[in-house]
Amino acid sequence: MIKRSFLLSAIIVPAVMAFAQQYGGMWIPTEVNEKEMKAMGLKIPAKQLFDTQKASIKDAVVQFDGGCTAEIISPKGLLLTNHHCGYDNIQSHSTVENDLLTNGFWAKNMGEELPNPGVTVDFIADIKEVTSSILAGTQGLESADLTKKINENIENYKKSQKIESYQTISVKPMYYGNKYYAYIIETYKDVRLVGAPPSSIGKYGSDTDNWVFPRHTGDFSMFRIYADKNNKPAEYSKDNIPYKPKHFLPVSMKEKKEGDFTFVYGFPGRTQEYLPAIAVEKIRTEIDPAMISVRDIALKTLDEKMRSDAATKIKYASKYASIANSWKKWKGEVEGLTKSDAAGKKQKYEQMLISKNPAVKTTLDELNRLYNEQAPYALNRAYYGETVRNAETLTLANNYYNFIAAVEAGKMDAKTLEGFKNRLSGVYKDFDAELDAKVTAKLLAHYANKAPKQFLPAGFEQYKNEAQNLQTIENLSKNSVITGRGSMNGATTYSDINKVFADQNALVQNLKNDPLMKLFSALREGYMTSTDGKVSSLQQQIDANQKKFMAQQMETDKDRKFFPDANSTLRVTYGKVAGSNPRDALYYGYQTHLSGVIEKYIPGDYEFDLPKKLIELYNKKDYGIYKNSNGDVPVNFTATNHTTGGNSGSPALDAYGNLIGLNFDRQWEGTMSDINYDPKFSRNIMVDTKYILFIIDKFANSRWLIDEMKVVK
Ligand code: ARG
Ligand code: ASP
Repeated sequence: MIKRSFLLSAIIVPAVMAFAQQYGGMWIPTEVNEKEMKAMGLKIPAKQLFDTQKASIKDAVVQFDGGCTAEIISPKGLLLTNHHCGYDNIQSHSTVENDLLTNGFWAKNMGEELPNPGVTVDFIADIKEVTSSILAGTQGLESADLTKKINENIENYKKSQKIESYQTISVKPMYYGNKYYAYIIETYKDVRLVGAPPSSIGKYGSDTDNWVFPRHTGDFSMFRIYADKNNKPAEYSKDNIPYKPKHFLPVSMKEKKEGDFTFVYGFPGRTQEYLPAIAVEKIRTEIDPAMISVRDIALKTLDEKMRSDAATKIKYASKYASIANSWKKWKGEVEGLTKSDAAGKKQKYEQMLISKNPAVKTTLDELNRLYNEQAPYALNRAYYGETVRNAETLTLANNYYNFIAAVEAGKMDAKTLEGFKNRLSGVYKDFDAELDAKVTAKLLAHYANKAPKQFLPAGFEQYKNEAQNLQTIENLSKNSVITGRGSMNGATTYSDINKVFADQNALVQNLKNDPLMKLFSALREGYMTSTDGKVSSLQQQIDANQKKFMAQQMETDKDRKFFPDANSTLRVTYGKVAGSNPRDALYYGYQTHLSGVIEKYIPGDYEFDLPKKLIELYNKKDYGIYKNSNGDVPVNFTATNHTTGGNSGSPALDAYGNLIGLNFDRQWEGTMSDINYDPKFSRNIMVDTKYILFIIDKFANSRWLIDEMKVVK
């Protein structure tokens, strides 16, 4: 088998890669597979990736605002990340007169850089394996006792460490709790916006092209880290100075070739590579399809109005993108898991493990039993969770439900209330109650028809009829304080939210009599009694067995080098620049170009419009030094790096540690890499550094930024 795919893929993909990367890998930077990295092309010692004694590449890689990754590309703390990672900050500086998302933004000097209160970047100062301290005295303990002891040990470990005032320690489980690692983190808090292309470049192709290759998006934005006079973290102050990094990444202008070695350094969020076959099969055939089906309905309903009404379009653009992002990923995941026969392969792997180690059978039997028992509950959780998440009327009702509980428990102090009201105002700002009444009506019908019968609250059958729901929910919505359409104390949440909340007890009474709240309470309480406790207690047992299964895989499959699943900690993954063959007779090249950007251009379209200036540069072929030998400017490229959500903004580096690309996405034929990385289908997508420099220089006339960098020709 290996030989066969070896021959087929050799047409476009060098064979060594397909072989070496059978399982992908997101490695802890202190434990990379140096031998394989070298064999695949790394030219520097692995020590240069992570060194606590001298400057190393990790000193240039940060977690950006808790979610994405970013990297330092100049001695003055200049930071590169994705446009979609900086999106909220770019938006927050926008006004109707000057919409930075639409127009882009380029500071002409440091004085013009824009502060972003609340935004942080985290450096990893050190990583230590601390398993023995954390698991000390846990032998024989189970469930709650085990968790309690581990948490105590973690607290004690943290207290025992001497750290600087600007450092914190985070202890994370690896391999499902078979190991523990401690991270020393340094958090900088003065992060200023330096530059961003207009969305027509930074988000070019928007939802249509999201998760898709061939891709033509300039998904980048730039920030700068500021520090106090001693180069240490400080709250924002105009007296702060640009941060002097221990290391920054040189930016490469070299032309990429298929097969070039590359590695990606960053903070991948979550993967599940070591699940048993049965879990993969449940995701593929039950959970993903359930979640997709709910979002199908929500997206279709929103889209109808967004297409016909410009104001709705603006209000819902970001929400729509967020619903669509996971929806599209799950669709790719189902297709990929099916096509790569992930569960079948896992089953064979399980048989191989059992043949070597009969104890594995006991664990797998237990996991099979538990997953089957959990299945109906897990399915109900998926339907319920997605229904409440995507019907905002229900999301709001859920918030008010928690409000009632907090007031009645005497826990609603002034500060909590303020936070609560602010969150609500945030929701109302972009909420169209009438439109959402439709979404809610349809999703309730879907839930009533799809959720396993035994989980529906008494009398819920009446919501099976969508047409009837549209009437019912619109009526409930129209008169409810929850949706902001009904009034309380002579005000609505839109006209004066403080007045609505002036008398908490009266508001609680009003809410309790609200038929919409009654409907939601029945739904929620039904879910809590029938499903919530059951699904979690089964999950606890699954987790305990998954920990065992993980340990057994590691001790039985001795030839395989294991990496821990992603958990938002710093990782290194590596691969080769490569196109792909995702479907019969369909081949994707590895590189797209500016000419392809122009091919997709649709004047006036909200996804594929382009700035005039870019078209002019194209018409004049004013590419300067940023073109490839084919005379075109490279835009995006793909490689076999194993990445996931959180790797957005991650640097893609060459064999010497120079920056060659900015990671921002994967192609959807390979998104099952979160569960089953497959080198045949899985590709990460990066913005070519040449395109980034081309935009900064030729499009934005911001040479001063390039002058700060070390450009490698
Ligand atoms: N699919 C990428 C990721 O998961 C990019 C998302 C942002 N872009 C978009 N068009 N919504 O996060
Ligand atoms: N687009 C993702 C992110 O924002 C990356 C991925 O899932 O490949 O982190």
